[in-house]
Amino acid sequence: MLDNKNILLGVTGGIAAYKAVDLASKLKSAGANIKTVMTQNACRFVGPLSFEAVTGSSVFTTMWTPPEEYRIGHVALSDWANIVVVAPASANIIAKIANGICDDFLSTFLCASWSLAAQGKAIIAPAMNIKMWENPVVQRNIETIKKTGFQLAGPSQGRLACGTTGIGRMSEPKEILEVIETIASDIAK
Ligand SMILES: Cc1cc2nc3c(=O)[nH]c(=O)nc-3n(C[C@H](O)[C@H](O)[C@H](O)COP(=O)(O)O)c2cc1C
Repeated sequence: MLDNKNILLGVTGGIAAYKAVDLASKLKSAGANIKTVMTQNACRFVGPLSFEAVTGSSVFTTMWTPPEEYRIGHVALSDWANIVVVAPASANIIAKIANGICDDFLSTFLCASWSLAAQGKAIIAPAMNIKMWENPVVQRNIETIKKTGFQLAGPSQGRLACGTTGIGRMSEPKEILEVIETIASDIAK
């Protein structure tokens, strides 16, 4: 289903980052080419090596990689990607997307990739504590990014890392994969 589709996986700093390794593995099994961009905070939760091992491709964690490795990274990646998925998406990255803030590789890449979002090819899988999710400012940011074309996968109800139960869990990798496959099949038509 995802044969030869170029998928950019963005990973931000939350407990659910470990689930993104499983998502990357599922995408790889489905035949996708995957490049991963991790925020510095994501790297506190999961090592880039996990994604490198699963995807067979190097992981971008900084804007400041030597130029011989690629053209201006965030622009080159946005040309390369057919589909973008951010999982887990922190409240912070959602706020950055909603407000056009570009202060690290992932947020700068997402700003450069607005046209993919406008074509319905960018997916955000939020994951956060219920109090954060229900914050009116977070909800306003969610509405803003939806208006610019980002598709939401989740969040779902269930047990949260903080010990409470409610909305805020990242959707399961299998569910996110289904959303990606639906977009990929639309691209193929
Ligand atoms: C243990 C722990 C778990 C966290 N889990 C989340 C989370 O699930 N969702 C979230 O939005 N922020 C979470 N945070 C806070 C983010 O890591 C923090 O807002 C950070 O600035 C996000 O940076 P990034 O968006 O650049 O990755 C957590 C922080 C800690 C210490």
